[in-house]
Amino acid sequence: MEKIVILFALAVCGATAISFESTARISGGGNALVNQFPYAVSLQQINLLNEYTRGHACGGVLITYQHVLTAASCIQPRGSQGQIIPNQYRVFAGSISLTNDTNADLIRTPANFTVHPSYTGYPALANNLAIITLVSAFPAHAVTPISLPSATFDPADFTICNVVGWGAQNNSASASVNLRYASKYIYNQNLCTFQYSSLEGTPNILPSMLCATSYDILSAGCMGDIGNPLVCQGGLTGILSVHNSCASLPFPEVYTRVSNYTTWIRSVTGGASTFQPAVATLIIFALVQLITAKVIS
Ligand SMILES: *[C@@H]1O[C@H](CO)[C@@H](O)[C@H](O)[C@H]1NC(C)=O
Ligand SMILES: *[C@@H]1O[C@H](CO)[C@@H](O)[C@H](O)[C@H]1NC(C)=O
Ligand SMILES: *[C@@H]1O[C@H](CO)[C@@H](O)[C@H](O)[C@H]1NC(C)=O
Repeated sequence: MEKIVILFALAVCGATAISFESTARISGGGNALVNQFPYAVSLQQINLLNEYTRGHACGGVLITYQHVLTAASCIQPRGSQGQIIPNQYRVFAGSISLTNDTNADLIRTPANFTVHPSYTGYPALANNLAIITLVSAFPAHAVTPISLPSATFDPADFTICNVVGWGAQNNSASASVNLRYASKYIYNQNLCTFQYSSLEGTPNILPSMLCATSYDILSAGCMGDIGNPLVCQGGLTGILSVHNSCASLPFPEVYTRVSNYTTWIRSVTGGASTFQPAVATLIIFALVQLITAKVIS
C-alpha cells in the first residue's frame, strides 16, 4: 500500500524529477532576488554569530514591523525542557545575505516569545506556531511584512506556492548564506494524511496542517528551514513544521495552516497586522469629512 502511494507521489512529481545527487538538494528555485521576499526572517543565536551563517537557527516571517511568525518547535526545541531565552537570540531581516549584518536597520532583539498555548511538541507538532515580539519595530524602508490570510483561505490542490528561507543546501551545512526559495505545490490533504499515517514518529496530519511538495524532488527542506513561510497567491499560507530531511524522504513537507490561527495571531499582535497607521488615519479623516458633508447638506 505504502509503495503504491509513493509511486503515485513520484508520478505526480512528473518528468522533471528523479535523479538523486548528494549536493544541491534544497531550493530548486534558487537564490532570492533583492526585495523579492522582504518579509523573510532569520532567527539567529547570538553566541554563534561568528559563524559564516551567523548562528542561523530557524526561518520566520514578518507579519507586522514588530512581530515574527515562526514555528513553536524553533522556540521550544526538541529535547529541551523549556523555551529559548529572548536575549540570547536576534532577528535578521531585509537582506538576501546573512553576512550583510553590519546595518543596524536589519537587526532586532526579541522582547518575548508567545508559543501557541495548545502546541503539543514532538512528534504530534499540532499548533506548531509561535510569535516573536521584537523590542522595537523594523524601519519601514528595510522590510515589508506579509498580510495574514483570511480565515477561509484554502488553496486548492496543485496551487503553486513559494517557500523561502535560509536552510542548508545539503546535510553537511547548517544554513545557506544566501536567501533561497523553492516552488512547491499544495498536496492533496487525504493523500498526505494517509502517507504520514504509516510513518512512525511523525505527526498525524490534522486539518490545521497542510502539505506541499515540489515538482523537482531534489528541492527539499533541510537544516535551518523550520519556520519558513509558504506563500501562495501572494498570501502567507503555511509555516514549515516538518521537512523531508534534505530530500532523504520522498514525502511532502508539512506546514502549519496559518488561516486556522488568524484570531490567535491577532490577539497577540494587537490586530494591527500590516495595516498602515498613516493610511488608517487618512481613511478615518476622509470618512469624517464625508459624514460631516452629508450632515451639513
Ligand atoms: C512582549 O513584549 C512587548 C514589547 O516589549 C510587550 O509590549 C508585551 O507586553 C510583552 N508580552 C509579554 C507577554 O510579556
Ligand atoms: C553545502 O551547502 C552549503 C551552503 O548551504 C555550501 O556552501 C556547500 O558548498 C555545500 N557542500 C556541498 C558538499 O555541496
Ligand atoms: C482549518 O482550516 C481548514 C481549511 O480551511 C478547515 O477545513 C478546518 O476545519 C480548519 N480547522 C480548524 C481547527 O479550524
